[in-house]
Amino acid sequence: MSDDSNVLIRPPRNISGVLSLPGDKSISHRYAMLAGIAEGTTRLENFSTGADCASTLTCLRALGVEWERDANSVVIHGHGPKLRAPQIPLDCGNSGSTMRMLSGVLAGQNFTSELIGDESLSRRPMARIVAPLKEMGAKISAASGDRPPLRISGGHLKAIDYKMPVASAQVKSALLFAGLFADGKTRVEEPVRTRDHGELALRAFGAEVLQDRNQVRISGGQRLQAIDATIPGDMSTAAFFLCAAALFPQSHLTLTGIGLNPTRSYLLDLLTAMGARILITQLEEKHGELVGTVQIEGSELQGAAVRSPQTEMLIDEIPVLAAIAPSTAKGIEIRDARELRVKESDRIAAIATNLRQMGAEVEEHEDGLSIPGGQQLHAAEIDSFGDHRVAMAFAVAALRANGDTIIHGANAAAISYPAFFPTLEGLAQR
Ligand code: S3P
Repeated sequence: MSDDSNVLIRPPRNISGVLSLPGDKSISHRYAMLAGIAEGTTRLENFSTGADCASTLTCLRALGVEWERDANSVVIHGHGPKLRAPQIPLDCGNSGSTMRMLSGVLAGQNFTSELIGDESLSRRPMARIVAPLKEMGAKISAASGDRPPLRISGGHLKAIDYKMPVASAQVKSALLFAGLFADGKTRVEEPVRTRDHGELALRAFGAEVLQDRNQVRISGGQRLQAIDATIPGDMSTAAFFLCAAALFPQSHLTLTGIGLNPTRSYLLDLLTAMGARILITQLEEKHGELVGTVQIEGSELQGAAVRSPQTEMLIDEIPVLAAIAPSTAKGIEIRDARELRVKESDRIAAIATNLRQMGAEVEEHEDGLSIPGGQQLHAAEIDSFGDHRVAMAFAVAALRANGDTIIHGANAAAISYPAFFPTLEGLAQR
């Protein structure tokens, strides 16, 4: 069982209201890291309130980057490309994004640093960044070659041409960040396109990044300049509220200022195809990122089948999609999602266990799940497995259960959205 922070979820009549969400986690990490190595002072409004992005800021401070933050903004004083050697291990907490992407920056630094993480992060694969960063000339060691803690002795790097064996935006960003410190042009090719926030963030800070289908190139030696930015609301957090609203025909939910980057917003297409009514207004572009208002009305949802390359685009939304699957008419099948087994928890196993706990039939595959529709979920006691997205996904599943559900380890939600449970309760119409 996870920690004993429990939350009770009571089924509502529908999910309605107006909501704006804290800044996107993926963008907050990247902007913070690039601000740290830029020249000048960066102001970031609507910075993520999650513990993961706080881990990134804590690591940056240990590397000599000064910053101040208030309720929703952060001011970061750029240290320039050469950071200060840390006196303590860099604690990445639960955040794989911090560990993997910061490694790209540390590979270019003339000192040795150690990156550590919590129990969950200490089980997550790191060979995916260790191998290419070594090829670029950094010295890196990881426990059993693959697990944290990481020890990085960086310095002068050479550009590489790298074909990523696993689709991972974190790895792509880490290599582009390292590419800033390399001689020559670094080229990264991904097997399928993943979120492009790293590319857009680098451009926002003034770097030239060239992109051609699944290939991205960056030249070393480019200096970054501070920016003033408002970070778009987090689509992966919005996903919980969108799916919750979609479950009830009477829901009317409006989300303002949400990030609508096409590499992140496939859920909107999928929910529309399943029968939800979605309207996008106020669309604008900020630092290359699309932002807009999303209105959703629920309906009797039909089914869906999700496979690569959509799986990769929906990777953080799959827990909540799986959680609503029994309440759809035709069910949901998810394949090509092996990566979910090495997230903050083994998400495929956690979802299957929790759905069964709620009385649902589910078939677990090595790379996904098949979940029949038309199933009434039973009220149950659910474990978050210490995973923020599992905690929030099952709060959404519980909205359609036949009674009150208890989520154990609900605190895990704080990793990406500490206000999740009170916000959901505020939208629940009874
Ligand atoms: C992220 C990429 C994805 C995603 C994670 C955030 C990012 O991970 O699951 O929550 O910000 O680049 P992978 O790169 O491991 O696929």
